[in-house]
Amino acid sequence: MVHHHQFDALVVGGGGAGLMAALHASKRVKTAVISKLYPTRSHTGTAQGGIGAALGNMEPDKWEWHAYDTVKGGDFLSDQDAVDIMCKEAIDAVIDLEHLGLPFDRTPDGKISQRRFGGHTNNETKKPVMRACHAADRTGHMILQTLYQNCIKNKVTFFDEFQVIDLLIDDGKCNGVVAVCLATGELHVFHSKGTLLATGGFGKMWKVTSNAHSLTGDLPAAILRRQLPLEDMEFFQFHPTGVYKLGILLSEAARGEGAVFINDKGERFMARYMPTMKDLAPRDICSRYIYKEVREGRGIGGKDYVYLDFRPDQINKYFEEDGNTKRITAEYLETRLPDIIEFSRVYQGVDPITQPVPIQPTAHYAMGGIPTNVDTEVLADASGKTIEGLYAAGEVACVSVHGANRLGTNSLVDLVVFGKIGGIKMADYCERASFRAIKKETAADFAQSQIDVLRNGKGGEDAAKIRKSLQVMMDDNVGVYRTGPGLEAAITHIRELQARYKNVAAKDKGMLWNTDLMEAWELGALLDLAEVTAVSALARQESRGGHFREDFPTRNDADFLKHTFVTVKNGKIELSSKPVTITRYKPEERKY
Ligand code: FUM
Repeated sequence: MVHHHQFDALVVGGGGAGLMAALHASKRVKTAVISKLYPTRSHTGTAQGGIGAALGNMEPDKWEWHAYDTVKGGDFLSDQDAVDIMCKEAIDAVIDLEHLGLPFDRTPDGKISQRRFGGHTNNETKKPVMRACHAADRTGHMILQTLYQNCIKNKVTFFDEFQVIDLLIDDGKCNGVVAVCLATGELHVFHSKGTLLATGGFGKMWKVTSNAHSLTGDLPAAILRRQLPLEDMEFFQFHPTGVYKLGILLSEAARGEGAVFINDKGERFMARYMPTMKDLAPRDICSRYIYKEVREGRGIGGKDYVYLDFRPDQINKYFEEDGNTKRITAEYLETRLPDIIEFSRVYQGVDPITQPVPIQPTAHYAMGGIPTNVDTEVLADASGKTIEGLYAAGEVACVSVHGANRLGTNSLVDLVVFGKIGGIKMADYCERASFRAIKKETAADFAQSQIDVLRNGKGGEDAAKIRKSLQVMMDDNVGVYRTGPGLEAAITHIRELQARYKNVAAKDKGMLWNTDLMEAWELGALLDLAEVTAVSALARQESRGGHFREDFPTRNDADFLKHTFVTVKNGKIELSSKPVTITRYKPEERKY
């Protein structure tokens, strides 16, 4: 049985961007949130170190410096009109969150406390600046709780544990979505005037990832299946400090508080590569140098990891080396970084207060995604034409503020700023638009066919084995370092896995909480996204931000200062491009 619902505004995703959009839309129109998880379990909750905003509470700062750092950090691929909006609005966004009840850490005189983060600088001295507003190392968690409570207060309707697998797109207009209710296995058609997608990232393509199990790219895959484009899929961020082998994030806030990387010789190697920013260079740069150390035999014990050292006595020694008069204690660190200290103790059996912590780069964040303009309207193609009634915000979207590499703390800025803009723009639209008719009898057919093929299939392939093979191959060939032959091998392998996927049949044929079936469906999404990621990466014959080609090791603005658009039409991948919006900052060499 197919169930039907109607709301003016629909938000898909219960993380920071989705809740921010719902909070603002619900002030004016009937709004529902559809979330694959219980909303406060969304991945925003794992964002640890802080949200960047040039409040200047601790030392001089300006939103224009934040904007320049973001563009430079993104290796000049960011659209600078969008960056200006984000960095300027970040200041009010943080104050809004404070007024909504978010318990930020405080300075002794009661202001919001700020800390250093990679790539954020005083543009005059070029030194790191304290810009990340934080609530211990649980900033994302606090944002989620705050926004969820305010959405409940605003009477937003929540459909928790509903997984959206298709979009109702007709004649260039979006009329809602189709979701599986995970508890019953039944399909639900949500008819809407406006729909905003905010489902986060898709890092489960990789084996070592900081991403939650739920981050399987369901909506980007649904976009591709509706023959719409994705943008800049070749740009995926590898965060330098994942728990070795597990990928769980150990916040960059540790380095913001003074921690450093050390190699097998006990050397603080980032000082050699990046003499000004050192361990607070942007993530793409740190990840590459970690693996350079490993490749040159200076990984710990010759293995594929280095240490993150945040023993207080060592941090004080590094402060002294840097001429920083600050000194810290174990108690200070336990208060500022309680979660990650606990993670190391629990997952690694290592006490960061007395021992250096084994880390390795971990697949963390999608700079690419569903293309939008600065009003969060989803683009139908590279010309800027939009899909009426369809919006996207947060990590799932590519607006594009992060360009080729996102700075730490800017994911939270992006999701609150563009989540709010999206909610307001969608409410504007819902107030002036009418519901378009949909064919109720057939609206769920495409979604139903995708589920039926997995439930009724007779093939003998196992989804878990295909997923593992995909993830290992993505780590090896579409990771921090890439080559043409490696990417070609990846594409061949993905296509073999896609062929095998046709013979996947869910073992569980039931309806209730059929995670076996839904995980098999998610694997199809991951395979489709992996294919367009590898194809886009092969086509970009240069190195920029998070995309490093060993066979094309330099940035090539003459040929590649452009966004990649990728679509799949009649089974064939098509690539096109869109110019980068450049306003104040002309591309320059990145030096830190
Ligand atoms: O390192 C971190 O705390 C992560 C933050 C981010 O991805 O912005």
